[in-house]
Amino acid sequence: MIRYFNTCRFAAFIIVVAAFVSCQPAQEPMSGLVKDRLDRSMQQCLLMAESLQNLPDQLPRSINANGELVTSRSDWWCSGFFAGSLWYLYEYQPSQTLLDDARRYSQRVEKEKDNKGTHDLGFMLYCSFGNGYRLTGDTAFRNIMLTGAESLSSRFNPQVGCIQSWGANQKWQFPVIIDNMMNLEFLFWASKVSGNSKYRDICISHADKTIENHFRPDYSSYHVVSYDPVSGQVEKKNTAQGYNDDSAWARGQAWGLYGFTVMYRETQDGKYLEQAKNIAHFILQHPNLPADKIPYWDFNAPPDAKRDASAGAIIASALIELSGYVDPSLAQRYLSVAETQIRTLSSPEYFAAKGDNGNFILKHSVGSLPRNSEVDVPLTYADYYYIEALLRYQSL
Ligand code: GLY
Repeated sequence: MIRYFNTCRFAAFIIVVAAFVSCQPAQEPMSGLVKDRLDRSMQQCLLMAESLQNLPDQLPRSINANGELVTSRSDWWCSGFFAGSLWYLYEYQPSQTLLDDARRYSQRVEKEKDNKGTHDLGFMLYCSFGNGYRLTGDTAFRNIMLTGAESLSSRFNPQVGCIQSWGANQKWQFPVIIDNMMNLEFLFWASKVSGNSKYRDICISHADKTIENHFRPDYSSYHVVSYDPVSGQVEKKNTAQGYNDDSAWARGQAWGLYGFTVMYRETQDGKYLEQAKNIAHFILQHPNLPADKIPYWDFNAPPDAKRDASAGAIIASALIELSGYVDPSLAQRYLSVAETQIRTLSSPEYFAAKGDNGNFILKHSVGSLPRNSEVDVPLTYADYYYIEALLRYQSL
């Protein structure tokens, strides 16, 4: 009798599982999803380009509380991302309109090549002109970037061994933020094109100091490490955009992952690969990483925190590249997470309908929550790294 009941219960269990499985909608194949979202991203970016065409010098930044477009001038650190998105989309599906728009919005950023007051020149110039040069070979773009690389390297202090991120202020004498790892790809490019190894040497020094001082034993990173510019010693370890000094600000972890993946690509030095893998491990095994793999804005933020789509997009793109440098089982793990991130960002929860969301592609990013600035809004860099992740996934 007991065996009869157990058999019945087992059969019932199988029926329930089978019913559950058969009720799940079949997942859209990745190839079709990626193509569709690239097509729709292109439509959205063309609408954005059209809306700004007659606003000289303006570049997209976000939306305000009424859903209206907020723009910036070229000195905002995000000024190059929109042009970069247009170049990526031109690469995906070349057209005269995309080429004209990509050139137009790159040119709006050109004057930043002489800006020695920011470390963000990699974001500004390499995402815009860097992609433009890669795709067109236009020597004018190359010259703009070489000037910019010289401006960026003027912020390197040999005593500290790092590029200074922000200017000195009352709190920090020589602040270096983890985000600064993202400018190194630009300097590697400058070394290769100019034949001058000093830019590459700066990258290696900056990355080595960052390994030494920005990372905790669990491979999460501080946001800001400030140095004494004379002695070169660390003076403070803090945050600016994270939950607190000891927390793991999600985008900071994403910048580190991406930055050390690039360091390995450019040097083939295994210590950078180890660093990237350790950062990936921190992110992927974190108990606060949601099942849909889009992080909260800080891994240590209190429950019900806002998500940061930009961190999800940056991590997805970095993991796809990193998967090419590791053993097959780890590669599979990285790609599986990147696929989940792309699927989540491509869902209606994150992916805006045509003409909505101020003509940005993705919703739900966080700029700086401690300053109550750009919270749960679209941001140009979320769009840029999302498109990059789609293209990288498509070329696997
Ligand atoms: N400071 C660049 C960022 O917000 O990620």
